[in-house]
Amino acid sequence: MLKLMTAGESHGVGYIVILEGLPSGLPLSAEVVNRELVRRQRGFGSGARMKIERDRAEIVGGVMEGLTTGAPLGIWIANRNHEQWKGKEIPPMTVPRPGHADLTAALKYGYNDLRPALERASARETVARVAAGAVCRHLLAQFGIRIGGYVRSIGKVTARTENTPLEERASIAEGNDLRCPDPEALEAMRTEVKDAMQARDTVGGVIEAFAVGLPVGVGSHAHWEKRLDARIAAAMLSIPSAKGVEIGEAFANSRRRGTQAHDPILINEDGSLTRPTNRAGGIEGGISNGEPILVRVALKPIATTLSPQQSADLLTGKPTKTQYERSDFCHVPRAVPVVEAMLAFVLADALLDALGEGTMDALLARFAQMPRPHLRAARVDGFAHKFWG
Ligand SMILES: Cc1cc2nc3c(=O)[nH]c(=O)nc-3n(C[C@H](O)[C@H](O)[C@H](O)COP(=O)(O)O)c2cc1C
Repeated sequence: MLKLMTAGESHGVGYIVILEGLPSGLPLSAEVVNRELVRRQRGFGSGARMKIERDRAEIVGGVMEGLTTGAPLGIWIANRNHEQWKGKEIPPMTVPRPGHADLTAALKYGYNDLRPALERASARETVARVAAGAVCRHLLAQFGIRIGGYVRSIGKVTARTENTPLEERASIAEGNDLRCPDPEALEAMRTEVKDAMQARDTVGGVIEAFAVGLPVGVGSHAHWEKRLDARIAAAMLSIPSAKGVEIGEAFANSRRRGTQAHDPILINEDGSLTRPTNRAGGIEGGISNGEPILVRVALKPIATTLSPQQSADLLTGKPTKTQYERSDFCHVPRAVPVVEAMLAFVLADALLDALGEGTMDALLARFAQMPRPHLRAARVDGFAHKFWG
């Protein structure tokens, strides 16, 4: 239902975001987007660019008198530092960084200078994703669906969160510059980043994101492209530097026996169904089961390191070392809003698949008909009648 396109380069004039497939009648202002753009700019371990960015979104289509019209939504975000680069003689870059898009993009697209590769592969493009994600998050909120995220680990340091409710984890994390949900792990994470900086190196980590309030029935078991877990995984792996995705306790489950890996289905006295655990991360058979959606994303350490790495000069054909470009040391805290944005996009898209097109009022009425997280006895009876009665 939803289509997202982005265009723009890191040092170009700016980024264009087009989001197509929104309902009409959704109240929307640039402020909704700007709040998320500010979140993307915060984070310990970021490089100098964050200080110059100060992003502002401008809505250029799809909204009239403060409401979406159902037409494609257009958002424009200017690159504030474009003026500084305009007209400057920039020497060609011919030494690819291992782990970046420099070499693969140059070989595929025949670039003589690696700049077009890094200009587009740059994570500056995530400003466009966060803008679109802000709109999706805002849409989901109209249905009572909330999204959050935090840093689970940086390097060797892992936050302990077992005893903290999901939304509390996110609000603790939002209160510190490492987006760490565990006050006891916070300083250890900071040391991990500082150690990497001192070693003139970079460090990666794992982000956890969740969605609460999603009803049963989003996604489908019937076709591979419609499986909600598959859609989430693909969206997460589209984030630059994201190399691993886990839904629920997928990796721990792979080490458990079946009877210990799944979430029992309990019938309460009132006939409602509950799940005492959520190892599945809220998705069974590619369909949301009403429990919180849980996803983890592993980010590799950034490829641009102050310490040179072994490479080759594509101009001279000689072995050489990489040169340093202005860069982050640890991008993990800053990538939390990006992970949340991609989750918001996929869930909004999958929810709209279930609700269809039209006005917000029509969608809200259809939403009210969706199965609730805890199925009632009447519904269980209905199933029995249908399949076995
Ligand atoms: C929020 C964020 C910030 C990033 N910042 C940098 C950076 O400063 N320097 C860098 O080399 N890579 C950075 N990256 C990662 C590169 O964009 C990424 O490694 C590159 O596009 C190659 O893609 P791949 O790592 O997915 O293969 C960042 C990624 C994210 C999500």
